Amino acid sequence: MKVVAVYSTKGGVGKTTAAVNLAWEAAKEFRVLLWDLDPQGAATFLLQVKPKVKGGVGALVAGKNKVAGAIRSTSHNNLDVLPGDASYRDLDLVFDHAKKSEQRVAKVLEQVADDYDVVILDCPPGAALVAENAVFSANAVVVPLVPSPLSMRSLEQVTQFVAESVSTAPVVAFLSMVDRRKKLHREAVEHLPLAQASVTDVVVPATVQIERMGAARAPIASYAPAVEAALAYGELWKRVQATVKAKVRKRKH
Ligand SMILES: Nc1ncnc2c1ncn2[C@@H]1O[C@H](COP(=O)(O)OP(=O)(O)O)[C@@H](O)[C@H]1O
Ligand SMILES: [Mg+2]
Repeated sequence: MKVVAVYSTKGGVGKTTAAVNLAWEAAKEFRVLLWDLDPQGAATFLLQVKPKVKGGVGALVAGKNKVAGAIRSTSHNNLDVLPGDASYRDLDLVFDHAKKSEQRVAKVLEQVADDYDVVILDCPPGAALVAENAVFSANAVVVPLVPSPLSMRSLEQVTQFVAESVSTAPVVAFLSMVDRRKKLHREAVEHLPLAQASVTDVVVPATVQIERMGAARAPIASYAPAVEAALAYGELWKRVQATVKAKVRKRKH
């Protein structure tokens, strides 16, 4: 089982959008679990799952409730969700009181290691214990970068955050919400992938088709498979898959 954390210290950069679309792309070939670690539950909403964890996430982390009981299937083949709900607001506190506080997410995921090939973690922004947990358990950390004078700073923050943890997970960054009418954005597309080894040349354009995900409550490629943004997430998944070396395991049917 390979774990991919979609993470940035910044909010509103396209983490949840990437998490949902990467999960959908991965589910074409793999058994995928998306774990929505954000109390806002946006990924849960986009996959049309009820934002409810019975007993709260605290009971899951404490091992009082089994994770299998909280996982929900979606209308998409091979794609399940561990929903986020309001109980995730206290997750940092829950972790803080736990032993090996940065390893709790990994511990929970051990329960389903045989059930899924790929786990996608949709992280809240910030650099708190939730993020430490996500990075600890991850085989790769995917970072959306919106071109701006501050985007390199957020990449540096994430890279440093991963480097300071015990994780050896590589960072896979990509340009998100790119508006080619803006000079700064065109420059970022041209220069960043060349200047920074961790920035792939995958570019997700800013487009209303992505905004429509909120109304459709579905991954973009499920209703507009040929648009540039959908193809970009397909390509991004290929890069991530190559990075984590996810393989289809032989299984009985
Ligand atoms: N490529 C894009 N083009 C247009 N809107 C986008 C794009 N990516 C994300 N958005 C929109 O921007 C908002 C924030 O995106 P989201 O993925 O929720 O960010 P985060 O999870 O980092 O906070 C959402 O309303 C989403 O629909
Ligand atoms: Mg989000």
